[in-house]
Amino acid sequence: MAYTPCLFLVLVLPGLTLQALSLGVGINYGQIANNLPSPSRVAGLLNSLSISKVKLYDADPNVLRAFANTNVEFVVGIGNELVANITDPDKALQWLTTHVQPYIPYTKITCITVGNEIFSGNDTTLITNLVPAMQSLHSALQTLGLSHQVNISTAHSLMVLSTSYPPSSGTFKPDIQEYMQSILNFHAETNSPFLINAYPYFAYKDNPNNVPLNYVLFQPNEGVVDPVTGLSYDNMLYAQIDAVYNAIKTLGHPELEVKISETGWPSKGDENEAGATPENAEIYNGNLLKRIEMGQGTPMRPDVPLHTYVFALFNEDLKPGPTSERNYGLYNPDGTPAYNIGLNGVLPGYHSGSSSKVRTGLWCILSLIIAILI
Ligand SMILES: *[C@@H]1O[C@H](CO)[C@@H](O)[C@H](O)[C@H]1NC(C)=O
Ligand SMILES: *[C@@H]1O[C@H](CO)[C@@H](O)[C@H](O)[C@H]1NC(C)=O
Ligand SMILES: *[C@@H]1O[C@H](CO)[C@@H](O)[C@H](O)[C@H]1NC(C)=O
Repeated sequence: MAYTPCLFLVLVLPGLTLQALSLGVGINYGQIANNLPSPSRVAGLLNSLSISKVKLYDADPNVLRAFANTNVEFVVGIGNELVANITDPDKALQWLTTHVQPYIPYTKITCITVGNEIFSGNDTTLITNLVPAMQSLHSALQTLGLSHQVNISTAHSLMVLSTSYPPSSGTFKPDIQEYMQSILNFHAETNSPFLINAYPYFAYKDNPNNVPLNYVLFQPNEGVVDPVTGLSYDNMLYAQIDAVYNAIKTLGHPELEVKISETGWPSKGDENEAGATPENAEIYNGNLLKRIEMGQGTPMRPDVPLHTYVFALFNEDLKPGPTSERNYGLYNPDGTPAYNIGLNGVLPGYHSGSSSKVRTGLWCILSLIIAILI
């Protein structure tokens, strides 16, 4: 549709200032879709939002190239299916020289996630390969002289915890503690962060009658007090993260940093997916952005601003699973906001070629004339 570029996707909405976002919200740029704008247009959109931290689930060369010289820093990903091969030091080195090294320094790549939510499945081979793969990659980074500018990590789901409430009782599931210990030792040795995907939405969806919506949405509420620490929590996300901090501390690593590799709220869901509405998504993500703007830490780590990657930039039409899975995006694929959280963003209406700029200009004039005639 040649007309689309003329829709002037300039969204001047009240709410957050751009400055807020420049303080460091990250965004997950998932691409399980067949209708997303080109990476160069996405670069323009993120630039207009002043978002400078992006997390990918792969190391898509088209994206890394499109963001060259943009100041955006990237977390790139190695899919679970590749983890076994990456345990081989030669293959780890080869992966880096193909997928990472060529883009540095024009594109900033600061972290590589090895697999996603590996403990949520029952693939014991994958689980046992995880740390060896992380180690091979780290050694390969050292070989390439990149180990001080690129971290190695892996993103976990909250299912790694057996207990998460109260936060002071947070512990890893007994059957994965041994693996977790090796991962934590790795993080300590290499000064890399522990990454967690945390969704208060899941807790609400599973138990909408007992979980107070205001508590999960960062709205004014009574909050909860951890009876052991006396710390009070006014939202569930911080309680979840402190449960992770506690589990890590229990295994002897109170020094590690926890970052949120994913959090978000779907704007649409199936009938049995309570709370998946545009209103709730707007409130959750809007309030979350304000917390990030304030540089808040959690009650257990008040001085450590909580680094967060929102899930996700776009609704992704090809994601399997319930309806909510395809509706976590802040944006629709055409660049219109999925709902209003007060972001001012522009999806550039043209590709970098000058002929398409001219075409776009002509279409704009034409549509203006049509609009006047109508
Ligand atoms: C892993 O390596 C083997 C042998 O080189 C190769 O055949 C296979 O395609 C690789 N797996 C993936 C997922 O790339
Ligand atoms: C893993 O196995 C356990 C026990 O067999 C089962 O309850 C659970 O649903 C499985 N999880 C996944 C993600 O397959
Ligand atoms: C690597 O992780 C550590 C610990 O979280 C952090 O202090 C450091 O800034 C990270 N390095 C990069 C390049 O992001």
